[in-house]
Amino acid sequence: MPQTARIWNYWLGGKDNFPVDRAVGDQVLEAFPAIVENARASRAFLARAVRYLAGEAGIRQFLDIGTGLPTANNTHQVAQAVAPECRIVYVDNDPIVLTHARALLTSTPEGATAYIDADLRDPDKILQEAARTLDFTQPIAIMLMGILGHIEDDDQARSIVNHLVGAVPSGSYLTMNDGTDASEEVVEAARIWNQSANPTYHPRSPGRITRFFDGLELVEPGVVSPPRWRPEPSPSGLPAEIDSFCGVGRKP
Ligand SMILES: C[S@@+](CC[C@H](N)C(=O)[O-])C[C@H]1O[C@@H](n2cnc3c(N)ncnc32)[C@H](O)[C@@H]1O
Repeated sequence: MPQTARIWNYWLGGKDNFPVDRAVGDQVLEAFPAIVENARASRAFLARAVRYLAGEAGIRQFLDIGTGLPTANNTHQVAQAVAPECRIVYVDNDPIVLTHARALLTSTPEGATAYIDADLRDPDKILQEAARTLDFTQPIAIMLMGILGHIEDDDQARSIVNHLVGAVPSGSYLTMNDGTDASEEVVEAARIWNQSANPTYHPRSPGRITRFFDGLELVEPGVVSPPRWRPEPSPSGLPAEIDSFCGVGRKP
């Protein structure tokens, strides 16, 4: 069965994928050639956001749900390069991600990493198991990168986000990124995906993505397309947008 983590890994140029994953990956690529750029720009946002959180925001704990297969610049590597004492808990429900999880458990001696095999739809299990590694009296950055689109219903997705954000103290952060539905190419790509891959994916409008940050203080520049979130300065000006929206919000 083609699986989201392995198809994503294929687009990112990884080797942990099978012919069935590449077949669906290629079909989506045909409908939406920008998907590869989209995947890479999303990972680049992850790295800039984690660098901001561990740096300027002083965060030392991360809960990364929907981790994906290990690739370059995983959350713990970026965070611990800034502050080696960072503690990171990864969560995914894909059995293949579980078999590769050892590559995520390469913490610095000062910090810690852990992996939980759990479903985002069971936030209580995630919070209970994460408490073995993270101190829930201290700020935590919750990362939901490319995962909320797998929960079709907005109310269900918002209830999960509220549950997670409700469990962390003031000064914690929500970082998220997900696909938008503004272009016909993306809608067609999602249709192809949902015919054959698992779990299904449902891009949202920028407005629906922005509402997940309700009640949080948005870090500048707000909820934007990932290449526009605090880009590295470039002589060629602002980078082009992609079909995703992302942001970082602080719990007051
Ligand atoms: C598109 S990948 C994103 C990977 C990574 N966060 C990134 O930004 O590169 C989505 C990941 O979410 C995981 N996932 C999807 N639905 C999930 C659920 N209900 N519970 C836990 N993980 C889930 C998939 O297995 C996959 O690894």
